[in-house]
Amino acid sequence: MKIYTVLGARNPEGQTAAAAHALLEGAEERGAAVEEVYLPEAAIESCRQCDLDGWGQCRREGRCIIEDDMPKIMDKMGRADAVVFANPVYFGDLSESMKRLLDRTRRVARHSDQNPLAGIPALGICVAGGGGGGSFQCMANLEKVLTTCGFDLVDQISVRRQNQRLKLDILRTTGQYLADGTIVS
Ligand SMILES: Cc1cc2nc3c(=O)[nH]c(=O)nc-3n(C[C@H](O)[C@H](O)[C@H](O)COP(=O)(O)O)c2cc1C
Repeated sequence: MKIYTVLGARNPEGQTAAAAHALLEGAEERGAAVEEVYLPEAAIESCRQCDLDGWGQCRREGRCIIEDDMPKIMDKMGRADAVVFANPVYFGDLSESMKRLLDRTRRVARHSDQNPLAGIPALGICVAGGGGGGSFQCMANLEKVLTTCGFDLVDQISVRRQNQRLKLDILRTTGQYLADGTIVS
């Protein structure tokens, strides 16, 4: 089982990374191969809405006109057995880097003859590390965009400072189940 993890946070020592790593440790214990990318470090432009009507090359050809890291990341997502989206809650929403990636991914995925993301199991983690508010709206937003991309969203886990210890245990166990194939269809 190959698990590709996309982090919308920058800090490898931060709360979002800790949540993702708890899940990945559990998965590795059960033999999964894991790889991750920190989106704020990747070159991912915003969608240019490159035709006058707001559509673009993606609608005609199923690929993006911008040559940056987004196509590589989408390719890795399409080759994974499961993709984990670990997102810090910003203003009750996805982080800017996660939005940029998924805004473009959904366009390309929706207009590919054969969407490489269709049916790939996805798991969301939303970490509200401030007051703890906004994680449910963030999860709703993540669900919307991931299902538009064609992923099979199997679960989402919210984390806040107050429940972090509990949730890290749950994430570790979730990683084990994910690697075992128990929670994917
Ligand atoms: C721009 C910004 C907006 C934030 N908005 C929220 C919020 O709506 N709710 C919340 O609980 N925390 C909020 N926070 C705190 C982040 O959720 C917290 O910094 C993040 O989960 C920690 O992730 P990290 O340690 O991986 O960087 C915000 C932080 C930033 C930088």
